[in-house]
Amino acid sequence: MKPAPLITRATSPADAAVCPLVHAAPYLIEQNSGAYTPEQHAVWGDLVRKRMPHLEEWACLEYLEGFALIGLTADHLPNLAEVSQRLRPRTGWSAVPVSGFLPHGAFFEMLSSRQFPTATWIRERTSLDYIPQPDIFHDTLGHIPMHAHQVFGDFLAHYGSVCYGIDDHDLLERLGRLFWYTVEFGLIRQSGKVKFYGSGVMSSHGESLAILQGVTEVRDFSLDEVLATPVKVDEIQKVLFAIESFDQIYEAMHDAERRLVPVHV
Ligand SMILES: [Fe+2]
Repeated sequence: MKPAPLITRATSPADAAVCPLVHAAPYLIEQNSGAYTPEQHAVWGDLVRKRMPHLEEWACLEYLEGFALIGLTADHLPNLAEVSQRLRPRTGWSAVPVSGFLPHGAFFEMLSSRQFPTATWIRERTSLDYIPQPDIFHDTLGHIPMHAHQVFGDFLAHYGSVCYGIDDHDLLERLGRLFWYTVEFGLIRQSGKVKFYGSGVMSSHGESLAILQGVTEVRDFSLDEVLATPVKVDEIQKVLFAIESFDQIYEAMHDAERRLVPVHV
């Protein structure tokens, strides 16, 4: 186990902005919005205009409400400070520019303080449909809208807080499955239909079609089954899990903590 976190976990929108980051500090950058080229803004616009008509039909209600709240537009790449100004009063979350992939400790530290590590680069036009690493499209269109939902935001912050205190690689890998099958590829049943809330589904047309066409098997969410299902990162998902409400994953995370994390200090 790591020592107790040096930060105090944000518990309300008001205190989230003042949590200093320690492990993540070397990875924080400024977003230079003025440096984006017209072509980069055009790529963003094409991605958003192509994706949103589908998501208006396929995404869950909470995602669409969050999307409207944070003010994303096809007209230009998002300014993360402006996104955060809209988001923070709602749930305490913000979108914080980082330089790339973060080590576990830095990543979980940011989640625990409701600061989502957000890429600022945008994919090339030659790679519109697939990139191996998250860019600003995946992070802001895929992840950030759900952070406007209180229960989802509380779940994700608690996930980060718990994982921040863990050094056991096998335990982190198992808890990583819960992240994968919720935050990245989560589904929810609404009005008799399977809707999306996971960022990997939001930002991938191929994953979306696989779900809607029945290629991907959709099972009812079960913590035991999620924890027992290894993650496959380089192929269309064969099985995903649908929740009934966001309370379910909030409770599942607390259940996982009680069952798997050996020491509470
Ligand atoms: Fe992601």
